[in-house]
Amino acid sequence: MSPGRRKMLGAIVAVINVGIVGAIVGPVMGFVTSPMNQRGKKGWVKIARIEEIPDGRATEIRYSMRTKDGYHVVDREYSIYVRRDGEQVMCIDPACTHLGCRVEYQVDRDRFLCPCHGGVFDKHGGVVSGPPPKGLIRHLVKVEGGNILLHREV
Ligand code: FES
Repeated sequence: MSPGRRKMLGAIVAVINVGIVGAIVGPVMGFVTSPMNQRGKKGWVKIARIEEIPDGRATEIRYSMRTKDGYHVVDREYSIYVRRDGEQVMCIDPACTHLGCRVEYQVDRDRFLCPCHGGVFDKHGGVVSGPPPKGLIRHLVKVEGGNILLHREV
């Protein structure tokens, strides 16, 4: 076999080997890194129709979202307080900003109370008294076609 032909066959074999390695390593790396690619996924979730939310008070809404937990796809249940004042809608996270206990809405006082250490929040989630260092978290929300859509990062 001539040296030129030998070089050309060597180059062809090298290209084939690179293709084979790429065909094996590519899908394996995609599978291994897929949970990392799903982190920080954002999206809008329909949680209610606007007419389902009474005006002038907070209402607890439960909703589920399909999320990826490692290699598993699971439906997770969440709850949130939706407050409507006319056309204004806000979504208030029920987790207390002190140590994370779940706050309860009291209709008669139009406030959120934390049962763990007595934190009190006003109707918009601002701190009134107690140990919480800041107000309740408010999530992005929009109304489209009468649907209340909540922005979540999962
Ligand atoms: S966890 Fe709510 S006041 Fe402490």
